[in-house]
Amino acid sequence: MHQSLASLYPQHFSTLLKRADNALALGGFEHLLIAAGTPLRKFLDDQDYPFVVSPHFKHWLPLTDAPGSWIAYTPGSKPKLIFLQPRDYWHVVPQAPQGYWVEHFDIVIVRNAAEAVAQLPAGNRAVIAAACPTQEGVEANNPAAVLDYLHWYRSYKTPYELELMREASRIGTRAHRAAAQAFHAGASELAIQQAYLAAAGQTDAELPYANIVGLNEHCAVLHYTNFDRKPPTHGRSFLIDAGASAAGYASDITRTYAAANGGEFQALIDSVDAAQQGFVSKVRAGQSYPDLHIHAHHVLAGVLREHGFIRMSEESAVASGVTAVFFPHGLGHPIGLQVHDVAGFQQSECGGTIARPAGHPYLRMTRALEPGMVVTIEPGLYFIDMLLEELKAKPQAGEVDWARVDHFRQYGGIRIEDDVVCTDGAPENLTRDAFGLA
Ligand code: GLY
Ligand code: MN
Ligand code: MN
Repeated sequence: MHQSLASLYPQHFSTLLKRADNALALGGFEHLLIAAGTPLRKFLDDQDYPFVVSPHFKHWLPLTDAPGSWIAYTPGSKPKLIFLQPRDYWHVVPQAPQGYWVEHFDIVIVRNAAEAVAQLPAGNRAVIAAACPTQEGVEANNPAAVLDYLHWYRSYKTPYELELMREASRIGTRAHRAAAQAFHAGASELAIQQAYLAAAGQTDAELPYANIVGLNEHCAVLHYTNFDRKPPTHGRSFLIDAGASAAGYASDITRTYAAANGGEFQALIDSVDAAQQGFVSKVRAGQSYPDLHIHAHHVLAGVLREHGFIRMSEESAVASGVTAVFFPHGLGHPIGLQVHDVAGFQQSECGGTIARPAGHPYLRMTRALEPGMVVTIEPGLYFIDMLLEELKAKPQAGEVDWARVDHFRQYGGIRIEDDVVCTDGAPENLTRDAFGLA
């Protein structure tokens, strides 16, 4: 069974120390300083945007609410957590750190930014922080050599990180179930979103990205983030792309549902679902992700043909760009501390870029899969007015059954998205495992 976070953390921590040692040596720095960050102030206002901690900071410890705090590491010594606990009776002050990880840090409590900066070691420092606003006495420099190295290795999740990602998936799937129930009960998009948040036990600001909750034609808008207040007269289709956070690790989950009487749309969902599970089964060490994306286009061309939307061969549907009309985004992306995690295009630990295949401008992952990587697999088929109008003007338009395509515009589209771990053997599907537990 799963091990506890407490038992997994020491190995995670020592992995980060080794990576930091190597990154500093590569960049020629003595110290690594990582700012948690500070909230952004709204323009001409006394209100802040929700605080979002630096991904580098939450990589080291499970603290997502520590604005103004710092981690300072010098190879050979115990890392220091400079923890800001302001004297403040207006706001809730962050609790003094406790838990399985605190023994690994020298913890210094400070009361303001100046005290924090005074605790940072002097010398040749790699300062990982948002450039603005800089704190007095310390400038962010974000050295490329250090960041490239750290980002490259962030692709390989430690067992501790995988356990947190399993938890993020458990929270997300619990909330997805509540959202599906709300849809079948006839709720509005806003009411579905509220049911989701309640079941997740997370606020909107805590989620890893803005939820996409669409009914009917809205399922055709890839990043639909309006929430209609009124339920539609007939809820024919429901697409929900919504995740959850666990100590700053993300899940990213999409499901599409048909109304109880929606047989023809359900049949298409079933085909996309079967295709998606086929792609998930190919998340194996050595698999090129862009090749998997192209493979997905061929399989989805088959689905479009089988369901009577196109008459052309699968080869020509892919080659002529017809599949890209119905599947106009990438197959997926790396995920971890950020929903779209870093290093999806990186060539090596020294940086560099692996270009996307021509004609696939939205793919977010061009590397080959290796054990420890976590990626999403999220194929879709959509009926998007703008792209369909463009297709109508092309020579391939004659090979499309427009009556059938037009009939399906009322459903918007389908996306099915799981988070999948590449291992030494069979893939671990975090999302389906979590749905299976509930
Ligand atoms: N929810 C954003 C994505 O699926 O990438
Ligand atoms: Mn998603
Ligand atoms: Mn995604």
